[in-house]
Amino acid sequence: MSIQEETASVCWKSPSNIALVKYWGKRGEQLPANPSISFTLDQATTETNFKVGPKTEGSGISLDFLFENQKNPIFEEKLMPFLEKASRDFAWLNDLHIEISSSNTFPHSSGIASSASAYSAMALCLCSLHEKITGEKLEDFFSTASYWARIGSGSACRSVYGGYNLWGSTPFLEGSSDQVAVNIDHLVHHNFKDFSDTILIIEKGKKAVSSTAGHALLKQHPFAGTRYHLAAENTGKLLNILKAGDLDGFIHLVEAEALMLHALMMTSPTPFILMKPNTLAVLEKIKDFRNQTGLHLLFTLDAGANVHLLNPESEDAKIQEFVKNELIGFCQNQTYFCNHIGKGPELK
Ligand code: DP6
Repeated sequence: MSIQEETASVCWKSPSNIALVKYWGKRGEQLPANPSISFTLDQATTETNFKVGPKTEGSGISLDFLFENQKNPIFEEKLMPFLEKASRDFAWLNDLHIEISSSNTFPHSSGIASSASAYSAMALCLCSLHEKITGEKLEDFFSTASYWARIGSGSACRSVYGGYNLWGSTPFLEGSSDQVAVNIDHLVHHNFKDFSDTILIIEKGKKAVSSTAGHALLKQHPFAGTRYHLAAENTGKLLNILKAGDLDGFIHLVEAEALMLHALMMTSPTPFILMKPNTLAVLEKIKDFRNQTGLHLLFTLDAGANVHLLNPESEDAKIQEFVKNELIGFCQNQTYFCNHIGKGPELK
């Protein structure tokens, strides 16, 4: 059968991840200005069904995109340039009609970043379909998926593996690369193996400034050079902390990274503030709770108002009680989502 008559489908479910050292600033084709480290979540996922079949009309990409079972022209338009780039390696994308149907396990407007789970699922589907359609085995399946996930959205390249992942070239890790993420689980002390991430939804809905626009603002940022230097240094420090099982060092470094990210936003040539009064109220509460209890609760923030609470899973019971008694009132409609470190994407 020629490729033009091929019918094939595949489905991947892929998770989001939370950055501990943040990727903020890029160069070239989606290359990071600094290395970053994250862990993969278990509950916040995107499931993507990717089908190809005979194409009737014209040249170029022919796509139907459904999001949560509804046709979604806005997402479809966003996806086109990605698929056009991907056709450099996956030439069959031009020869077949494509039907993609995608849905999230968390509400789209909840303020949880979905580009990492969406593009990692998409890239994994591309790799699986490539093997099915061409009969060729990809030499390094997950590395290829990480590469294409990165082209879709930088942080997505860290979602193709479970556990802890590092993206970006650093002298502190042999084999690290700007092109793809690498898994670093084998280096991680058991103190960090079971960790929780409770996402407090301080504000739902679209952010005032997208991550993509935020990255671009670093281009003319007066502190960009210092930031890249500190992030590179923090990557080395966090690797040592993860190896040693140093929980206090972890708290200090991860919170400083989150605050530096927001400080960069506030000091960019076009300044902006994504934290809300309730974000700050929660940060204060976390600090007080930690001082009073000695428990290892810490926060991190993405480019938005929501707060990620991190803690060792062994402390979950006391911390979940604290969330219910003291923090839930700061969340929009009392919404929060519990995640643990996840095992990574699943082929369905
Ligand atoms: C603050 O990966 O969403 O979450 O590459 O433009 O799609 P694009 O940006 P994106 O940026 C994520 C920024 C961050 C930090 C991080 O995840 O490392």
